[in-house]
Amino acid sequence: MISRPQWDAMILYMRMVLDGYKGRYMFRSRITHSLRVTQWAQRIWNEDGQAADPEVLLAAAILHDIGYSARDGEDHGEWGAGFAEQYLRNEGYEESFTQKVCYLIRLHSHKEYLKMPEKAASQLTPELQILMEADLLDECGPMAVVFDCMAEAQEEEQSFEKTYQRILKSSPDFLECNWMISPSARSYWEDRQILLRDYLNAYQQELFLTEKMPEEYEKAAVYMTHTMKGHELTPNRRGVIYPFRRRDMHMFRVFYQARRLFKEEKARQKDRRRELSPYGKRVLSYAALLHDIGYRRTTDGLLHAEAGASMALEYMRGEGLPEELCQDTAALIRAHADKRQLTEGEQPILLQLLMEADHQDESGAMSLAWDAMASAMPEAEMDSAFERQLDYDKALERMQRFTAKMFRNCEYRTAAGKELWQQKGRLVDRFLRMFQYDLKEWEPIELLESEGRWDL
Ligand SMILES: [Fe+2]
Ligand SMILES: [Fe+2]
Ligand SMILES: [Fe+2]
Ligand SMILES: [Fe+2]
Repeated sequence: MISRPQWDAMILYMRMVLDGYKGRYMFRSRITHSLRVTQWAQRIWNEDGQAADPEVLLAAAILHDIGYSARDGEDHGEWGAGFAEQYLRNEGYEESFTQKVCYLIRLHSHKEYLKMPEKAASQLTPELQILMEADLLDECGPMAVVFDCMAEAQEEEQSFEKTYQRILKSSPDFLECNWMISPSARSYWEDRQILLRDYLNAYQQELFLTEKMPEEYEKAAVYMTHTMKGHELTPNRRGVIYPFRRRDMHMFRVFYQARRLFKEEKARQKDRRRELSPYGKRVLSYAALLHDIGYRRTTDGLLHAEAGASMALEYMRGEGLPEELCQDTAALIRAHADKRQLTEGEQPILLQLLMEADHQDESGAMSLAWDAMASAMPEAEMDSAFERQLDYDKALERMQRFTAKMFRNCEYRTAAGKELWQQKGRLVDRFLRMFQYDLKEWEPIELLESEGRWDL
């Protein structure tokens, strides 16, 4: 039986070998990957591993990618097996154990065995099957989403739409098939397929990609886009630039969302028909479409509303729109920034809808993407340790600090807004719980503590 110090030494060896390895993506550490794969292997073994030797399996999982230190590609298994053989012999492990571990490392990249297990029956030992399943499980679900976001953060041109397209593009392989054979691995995989599908649906709904601008607002939309051109490169109050954070796109989304909430609220609240009139919808539409143009003049969270109100008034008057409409729109824009009103006091319904539509944007799926992207971008001056320490856990940390916090202590007041907010909150909660579960790295202590099943 392998002792605790032996496991520690094996992990330390793996860390040392892979320490200098730099793949294409800095945040994708092979070291933490190896420990997560080992954790997956243990989970699968615990449930379905009766036929597999746990020590061979876990040793191979820890060491399976050490070959990357020599060769970045298909034959890293071959190289890794060579290194492992040397290490295990030097450490005095039995020859038959060493050979079994090296066999797994050598073949672990042949994922096609999982796709046609009948054909590969002679190669696919119970240990190899679990190792491959574990290796693949580390790249699906929340992990896949975060991977794409962090990779996107390294691109020159960035936007929430581009990130969404990237996740969408890399999803079919994962969404359409399940190569897992062990029942537990199959269901882990299915759970992650469901989450990814829900995440993509939510993200798509947040983006309003298929929505078409109604003719009446086309001109105002052009004015707004023109006004905000290049604004995404203005640093925010803390001096940080998030190139993916385009205010013009934000205003488009708030426009569509405000109109959607308006429609839903109208269907529910028959007694508020007067406020929820076609005129009210026009005021809300113009206000939503222009509500943040004041950011062109100031980066201040409160002052931008005042600046935006006067810009909108000037623009709308210039277009010859009715004075009442201009005034009511400007008043709504002026009042939108004080978010305390969102949850306190009784607001006019149009202002409430505008604030809810505004506040909910860049939350949910989009906010998780934001946190993941931002975690891969150095905020202050480029620190040399930043890239070295970058890993998926940085994204989780940020998601918990920002996105998860948004959903605590905040309640909307309209029925339609409340439902939307709760729906988003549930998705965020599911995403974070699964991501946290998937990020767990294996520690030898668990092996010793698992109900005596290891005393073979
Ligand atoms: Fe590998
Ligand atoms: Fe791997
Ligand atoms: Fe605003
Ligand atoms: Fe806004």
